[in-house]
Order: sequence, then C-alpha cells, then structure tokens
Amino acid sequence: MSTYTETKPKVTTRRILEMKQRGEKIACLTAYDYTMARLVDEAGTDLILVGDSASNVMLGNFTTLPITLDEMITYAKGVVRGVKRALVVVDLPFGSYQGNSKEALTSAIRVMKESGAEAVKLEGGAEIRESIERILSAGIPVCGHLGLTPQSINKFGTYTVRARQEAEAQKLIEDARMLDSLGCFAIVLEKIPAELAARVASEVSAAIIGIGAGSGADGQILVLQDMLGMNDGFSPKFLRRFADIGDAIRRGVSHYVEDVKNIDFPSAEEQY
Ligand code: KIV
Repeated sequence: MSTYTETKPKVTTRRILEMKQRGEKIACLTAYDYTMARLVDEAGTDLILVGDSASNVMLGNFTTLPITLDEMITYAKGVVRGVKRALVVVDLPFGSYQGNSKEALTSAIRVMKESGAEAVKLEGGAEIRESIERILSAGIPVCGHLGLTPQSINKFGTYTVRARQEAEAQKLIEDARMLDSLGCFAIVLEKIPAELAARVASEVSAAIIGIGAGSGADGQILVLQDMLGMNDGFSPKFLRRFADIGDAIRRGVSHYVEDVKNIDFPSAEEQY
C-alpha cells in the first residue's frame, strides 16, 4: 500500500504533466469532505476531484444537475483542509459556466478564492472553448471532460458508452486536441472505447484521466464511494470494488444499535 509521507512533494499541475511524460500512471479519486479527503490523500492519491457527483453521492439526487456552486464550494473547502499532497480539482457545476465565458470565469474565481482548490474541471469541447480560454487566461488551471458528460444526460438520454460511432469519436478527438492546444493540463475521458482513449492519450500532451476508458489512459479516476463498496445500486463494468466499507458500516452500526438496546453500551469503563 502506498502511504503519504512528509517527504512526498505536493502534486501540482506541472507534476501531473511530468508523470504523463515519464509514463507514471496517475491515481485519481473523488472526495467531498475533510475526513475522507484526508484518508484518500494519506493513501497516496495524486489528484482528488471534488466532483459534481457529490450531487448523487452526498445529496441523493438522481443526476448531477441540481448541485449548486455554493454547495460545491462548501464541499471543496472541507476537502482542501484535509489534503496535504494531492492536487485538488473542483467541478464547475451545471449552470455555472454554460451561459457565457464571463460567468464561467466568475464561477472559477469563486471556487479558487473561497475553497483554496488548485484547478477546475468543466464538461464539454468546442461549445465551451471561450469559457476555457478565459479561465486559463486568469491563471486558473483547467481539466477538461469529454465522452460521457453527465451534465448533458438530458441530451444523451442514457448513460451508455459514448463515441462508439465514427462521427462522435472524430468529434471527441478534435475536442481533445483543442483542449490540449488551449493548455488544459488534463482531460477526463468518461465511458468511451479503450482504443479511442489510448489513441487520444498518445496524441495530446495533457494527461488523459480515464473512467471506464481502459488502461491506455495516463491515469484513472473512480468515485470514492463506488470503489469502496458504499453504493450497492451501481455496478457498471468498469467499476472495481476495492473494499466493502458499506458492509463494514452496516455491521458496525447494527452492533452499536444492539449494544445500546441491550444496555451493553456504555459499560462501566466507558462512563465517568
Ligand atoms: O463528478 C465526478 O465525479 C466526475 C468523475 C466521474 C470524473 O466527473
């Protein structure tokens, strides 16, 4: 197991790019609060994304659309306080950047100023070019996100694999090249054929972070609660469960409930 030590230097966007250049895979995860972010950071994760998946995972919404910029900033503040080494990236939520590039910059500045995070992530390609340019020109690092972009679920109508067809694959390649040429330090590719992700990774300088995009990406990302087995109802093919925390929580809590009911807790030693 990789563990955090004081000697491991802080991860910056520059270090992410260097990792790609030397072929070192980049391990990324989401986190939404101080306690989990601290553990995820101590375990050696390179990049922590305060994803708008917080809308589903933390708030119980069906999609990522309802979460607000204020809510994202609150989650991001907790994560930043818990992290010493990983690069912290925050999703700009739906409705906080699609209107125009000025609104996008205002949202990105709020995230950076109020949370202390180090980069923002936006979903989309050519359609949001101006917003990305404006954010980058303010000195804010940007991570792109192509393929399955959950903020557009109402347009897609399904969470199935994207870019299987030639036309969509071609558009994704062009969008990735554009994000790369603008200066995005990383691009998340979600749920696309492995061959396509590997091809993009080999063509661009930005670090390609895959989720359901195969082993040819420069790094991988998963939603923390999914990979720790805390979300029984979600089991896509790409998701590996690395622990069964959900079961451990249920067992621990039911043990506690039983002990309270049976007046086994607190014991004589556990009171003043
Ligand atoms: O919001 C999120 O968690 C994400 C990851 C799935 C990449 O965007």
